[in-house]
Amino acid sequence: MTVNSNVEAAWRYHNASKHSYASVHNNLHFLDWDNQPLPFKAYTTLEPLRLPREVRQTGVAALSAIAESIHPVASAVPDLEALAQLLYLTAGITRHRKHPGGDIYFRAAACTGALYEVEVYVVCANLVDLEAGVYHFAPAEFALRRLREGDYRSVLSEATGGESAIVHAPLTIICTCTYWRNAWKYQARTYRHFGWDNGTLLANLLAVATALGMPAKVICGFLDAEVNRLVDVDPEREVAYSLVALGHVAALPQQFLSKPSVLHLETVPLSRNEIVYPAMRKIHAASSLRSAEEVGTWRGNAPFAKLPAQTGATVQLHPYSDAEMPRDPIEQVILRRGSARKFAEVPIGLLQLSTILDRATRGIPADFLHPEGTQLNEVYLIVNAVEGLDAGAYVFHRDRQMLERLKAGNFRTQAGHLGLDQDLPAEAAADIFFLADLQIILGRFGNRGYRAVQLEAGILSGKVYLAAYAQRLSATGLTFYDDDVIRFFSPHAHGKSVIMLVAVGKNAKSVL
Ligand SMILES: Cc1cc2nc3c(=O)[nH]c(=O)nc-3n(C[C@H](O)[C@H](O)[C@H](O)COP(=O)(O)O)c2cc1C
Repeated sequence: MTVNSNVEAAWRYHNASKHSYASVHNNLHFLDWDNQPLPFKAYTTLEPLRLPREVRQTGVAALSAIAESIHPVASAVPDLEALAQLLYLTAGITRHRKHPGGDIYFRAAACTGALYEVEVYVVCANLVDLEAGVYHFAPAEFALRRLREGDYRSVLSEATGGESAIVHAPLTIICTCTYWRNAWKYQARTYRHFGWDNGTLLANLLAVATALGMPAKVICGFLDAEVNRLVDVDPEREVAYSLVALGHVAALPQQFLSKPSVLHLETVPLSRNEIVYPAMRKIHAASSLRSAEEVGTWRGNAPFAKLPAQTGATVQLHPYSDAEMPRDPIEQVILRRGSARKFAEVPIGLLQLSTILDRATRGIPADFLHPEGTQLNEVYLIVNAVEGLDAGAYVFHRDRQMLERLKAGNFRTQAGHLGLDQDLPAEAAADIFFLADLQIILGRFGNRGYRAVQLEAGILSGKVYLAAYAQRLSATGLTFYDDDVIRFFSPHAHGKSVIMLVAVGKNAKSVL
């Protein structure tokens, strides 16, 4: 038995990090503003290499970009301008607000608490206007810093056990997550946020890659220690979470490099002191892959989770066709996005909700989602106000483009409670819950399945955000009381776990 296959670890973390009314109300944690972590990783010795700010616009409709992916047939190689566009619309600073506790630099993708614990690195061959190397993306300066000179792609080929998308990629994005930057507020629940916040960011990245005509594939199966070493992170503080292979070139010749040297590049401390939450270190270690064979067997076919037989009344969904759909370009939609802070309690159209569900769930290119189009999370909804749809609780049958009603009624009050007693889920037109059968997922993927299912839910939620804003609606991610959500959707959801929640509706500001 490998460490990854002993799934006690994932269950222990999952159960211990659940929110309940009691756990939230008995928690004495407070925000120590004097010890607030810096929002940016700052190297002290590396010079910034500014990225071009004037970039071409793709003009590709957001509703197409989020739903499609490019098949790797011909050669596709990003140049520096395309990379700048990708990085800006994925992790760049898109808004800035002055705040009594300090300025907040909002980024292109939603992130719990606006704490931005996800860092982005680039590993590339020689590209037009960019030399081969390993780079860190610095959103504050909109710049790259080069950590290593030369072509290090073969390290990633080895670390992924020769994953084909990586072997053919002229460029791979590595996303890491920094514990303390998010745990300062959210304590040990931060490990779930890694998947959510990395996921919303990847929803943008995948959509922009498609708009640029670049094949892209999310890779979760890799040797953790090798990737962490390549980007020179201290794995006690910051860990590689996902890779995205971008573009397509002839396969790299097999190379046997010596291991990249340890650089120990100096960075500015995030704050005066950092609090360690051992539960997160444990689940990370338990979900790490340690040999090429383990990586090889990890990726591949996803387990097939069947929904219970349909017994409730059904509503057929009719999303926009390609010809009729709103065509606001992906660049505009990403820049327009910003989480709703208050929803107007007015209905959205069934056509709009259908389009969100359809476009967000057309499939994610990922090494744990074979065959293409597989999904680990199931979609459950509380519908508060959608024209042509009775208020109630529903489950989405993706294969049949249909909603099955689980119970009818006005559940605004319950929705507010389930979303951690906040107003947003009560005011929203619809609350979209991602639920998964962890028994089956962990059985197939081991503890690392826990990372994969959180990441997938984050990507799906990021797509929901973009599909909503593409239709001039609004959305926000929300946290939740775990077991209360399952009770609410049971008996249908019996045995499942709630992974993520996103609410959609009309923004109160836009209907004034
Ligand atoms: C997974 C997730 C969970 C979130 N949970 C909440 C929440 O419970 N309450 C809330 O008001 N906002 C929540 N947010 C919204 C964030 O606060 C927001 O994304 C962040 O402040 C950045 O702002 P922006 O999305 O407008 O760019 C959540 C966002 C995400 C991605």
